[in-house]
Amino acid sequence: MEIIDGKKISAQIKEELREKTARLKEKGVVPGLAVVLVGDDPASQTYVRNKKKTCDELGYYSEEYILPADTTQETLDALIDRLNAEPKIHGILVQLPLPRHLNADHVIERILPQKDVDAFHPSNVGKIMIGKYDFLPCTPAGVMTLLDRSGIDVCGKKCVVLGRSNIVGKPQAMLLLHKNATVTICHSKTKDLAEITKQADVIVCAIGKAKFLTADMVSPGTVVIDVGINRDENGKLCGDVDFENVAPKTSFITPVPGGVGPMTIAMLMKNTMTAAMIAEGVSEG
Ligand code: GUN
Repeated sequence: MEIIDGKKISAQIKEELREKTARLKEKGVVPGLAVVLVGDDPASQTYVRNKKKTCDELGYYSEEYILPADTTQETLDALIDRLNAEPKIHGILVQLPLPRHLNADHVIERILPQKDVDAFHPSNVGKIMIGKYDFLPCTPAGVMTLLDRSGIDVCGKKCVVLGRSNIVGKPQAMLLLHKNATVTICHSKTKDLAEITKQADVIVCAIGKAKFLTADMVSPGTVVIDVGINRDENGKLCGDVDFENVAPKTSFITPVPGGVGPMTIAMLMKNTMTAAMIAEGVSEG
């Protein structure tokens, strides 16, 4: 059994991007990211701070907007319009979830698709479906990179995705399919779930329930990727996988924390770099 080190792999990717940024700077191109947070959710504040910090480490230009929880849709729209028109900004990320009076779908569609570094805009989602994309959604892209850099080829393998969200489950299934996996998507209405997971060569667990995937649901030698971020009964951070009991049965497994989580931000930085290169018309950094 090998524990996949997401911290290490994300550090490698960030280092590659840092070197590329230095080369792009010589051509007068500096990738720029705007991060927008509405409200004062502490977890979201931490995510936004980390994104800003990573921009600084890589040499990106960044702008941070922390708006009060009672910000109106009109005010948020006006900010997005301004950032859409700002040449120094290549990527715009509006931290989700938004306060309930704001419409997330509307906000996502207001961001120009070429600046949508989350790849949440319907135009980018459609491009992923047909396999002709510039950006990949950060979490599923992080999972694919972890598999790739661990030497795991999914071609022809039975891959089971647990969860069907627009942010993780659905695009994850599509990315695995693009790599020629045979993909099954399971969700809360799936019958005989354990029978399906026991057949899997690879399980990606994005169901949002602490320790949901248990040892009896996994066959020996399976690759298990845990996308969950939950708190257990003692308030300790844990994933969707009962790591302690599942890990000994697996060939590879990701821990929480230190697995998929650190990859998400590295993929956001990669998307911002891609957006900058396309916008500035440069092919290689
Ligand atoms: N909130 C939690 N994860 C994400 C993400 O990947 N993108 C955005 N915009 N908000 C999030």
